[in-house]
This record gives sequence, structure tokens and C-alpha cells, in this order.
Amino acid sequence: MVQSDNICTMFEFDLEKNEFDLAEVEALGLRLAEAAVKGTVIALSGDLGAGKTTLSKAIAKGLGISEAVTSPTFTIINEYSSGRLPFYHFDVYRLDGLSSGLDEMAELGFDDYFYGNGLCVVEWAELIGSSIPDDAVWINLLHTDDPDKRKVVLGKAEVI
Ligand SMILES: Nc1ncnc2c1ncn2[C@@H]1O[C@H](COP(=O)(O)OP(=O)(O)O)[C@@H](O)[C@H]1O
Ligand SMILES: [Mg+2]
Repeated sequence: MVQSDNICTMFEFDLEKNEFDLAEVEALGLRLAEAAVKGTVIALSGDLGAGKTTLSKAIAKGLGISEAVTSPTFTIINEYSSGRLPFYHFDVYRLDGLSSGLDEMAELGFDDYFYGNGLCVVEWAELIGSSIPDDAVWINLLHTDDPDKRKVVLGKAEVI
């Protein structure tokens, strides 16, 4: 199981500069995919346009997914099976603010994915923080003054 600590160690040097251009975010995605094992959950937080889907696509590429990866904003979960591991790509934004949100999650059987045989990447993970497994790798993407660069912060949003 890849742990946040290992990921922190892997990226410590790179993350110190905290100004990632698109190519660097994509390279991070490829390395995360290499490190992933079944049951790895990568929890992404960050505002609209921060690069969550961009990073997710790079992770999918790193797994060798051959299908086109599209944002699951309206479907909540997209599943891809053509890579080294099953890839489950979530965007839980739509669940926020729904009184039925938690019920809907239970119906979707999130835990079957989170504790399953694949790699899960969850966009807007902070909205369902209590459902995310404790050993998930949290990555926060932040806008910077430069529209082409992002700050990348590891760790759960509320403990930063
Ligand atoms: N350094 C960067 N990292 C990630 N995305 C970037 C970067 N610079 C520019 N972008 C652009 O920002 C946009 C991010 O959109 P997206 O990945 O859909 O964000 P989100 O899923 O967080 O809403 C994309 O158009 C992407 O090309
Ligand atoms: Mg997105």
C-alpha cells in the first residue's frame, strides 16, 4: 500500500518549489500511477480549474488506460479497466449540499471501490472527507498568481 508518507518522501524535493507547470503536474500523475497498488485512494482537493481532472488524466495515463478519460462531474464515478489496475475516477462535487448526499453515496457503494481492487482518484474529496479511507493520499491543488502554475500541497486540507 502506498502511504502519504512515502509519497511525501518521493516528492519532497519537487514539492518544495511549489510552482508546478502543466508538464510537472502531469509528471506527478505518472509517478503516482507507478506507485499505486490495489486499494490506493488519491484524494484531490482544490477549487474549480485547479487541475484535479488534469492530474487524474495523467494518473490514468500512467496506469496505461487506453480509453478516453473524461470528467465524471455528472456521473460521479467513471470506471476504466484497460490499465495495470482498475481505475475508478470520482467527482463528488454534485453530492455536496444534497440532503440525500450520504444516502446516495451509500447506494453507490463507495466503500466497495475505496477498499477494492483498483486505484481510486476522488475529485472534491474534502466534501466527503469522513468517507475517505485513513490511508488515502491527499493532494491539494491551488491556484497561484501565474495562471499556468499550481501549488501542490500534500496532506488533508483541514490539517494544513
Ligand atoms: N500547472 C497546471 N496544472 C494543472 N492544470 C493547469 C496548469 N496550468 C494550466 N492548467 C490548466 O488548468 C485547467 C485545469 O482544469 P481541470 O483539470 O479541469 O481542473 P479541475 O478538475 O480542478 O476543475 C486545464 O485547462 C489545464 O490545462
Ligand atoms: Mg474536475
